[in-house]
Amino acid sequence: MKGVILAGGLGTRLFPLTKITNKHLLPVFDRPMIYYPIQTLVNAGITDIMIVTGGRKSGDFLSLLGNGKEFGLKHLNYTYQEGEGGIAEALGLCEHWAAGEPLTVVLGDNLIERNIKAAVEAFVAQGSGGKILLKEVHDPERFGVATMDKGRVVEIVEKPENPVSNLAVIGIYMYDARVFEIINSLEPSARGEFEITDVNNWYIKDGSLTADVLEGWWTDAGTFQSLHQAANLVAESGANHLD
Ligand code: G1P
Repeated sequence: MKGVILAGGLGTRLFPLTKITNKHLLPVFDRPMIYYPIQTLVNAGITDIMIVTGGRKSGDFLSLLGNGKEFGLKHLNYTYQEGEGGIAEALGLCEHWAAGEPLTVVLGDNLIERNIKAAVEAFVAQGSGGKILLKEVHDPERFGVATMDKGRVVEIVEKPENPVSNLAVIGIYMYDARVFEIINSLEPSARGEFEITDVNNWYIKDGSLTADVLEGWWTDAGTFQSLHQAANLVAESGANHLD
């Protein structure tokens, strides 16, 4: 199992905080945002990690993280996304590096309280397909939202105006090696991006997507409100730190 952290984009919802720096380098309580998704992967036992950067100050990731010594890593991989092609396009840049292995993908602005180790192990046991993680939220219209039927996800709608459930698809995804063929077959969405929701809906149609509900708190940190909330959650209850 390899790990990918997506840390590109222009972070326009956080302007002017992101006018100079990359969103994922902004502070969340006592450390830069990118530290949290790295720790999420390391805590799940995933140590072969690619960071996809892009946008502003992408060189700063190397200065900040180096080879990942602070996380007990010997090496980190980096690649660069040009432009704003979306999450699926960013993941597509990892095809050569992934070399046929399954992947756990974490969006660089997603923070969790606990651990995804059990979900990763369940996905490895599953053998193929994909796995997503769901969390009940009070503002599902901000996210990909799962339609459930008899305990299975039957469709995901990206940022629906009228959500059919309050189950958000969080930014942690597990995929087999077919993910790159799927990405290469996608059409851009109305907002001109290659959507990770289209990838997940492909696996649903294939009958090979499983979903677990995440325990403990989860938040993204891509808006002023959620960035503030992320800092509060970490300050109050701690996140998935090793320390
Ligand atoms: C992305 C995904 C969305 C998911 C969210 C989780 O949205 O497109 O499906 O629920 O991450 O953070 P974005 O934050 O890029 O708008």
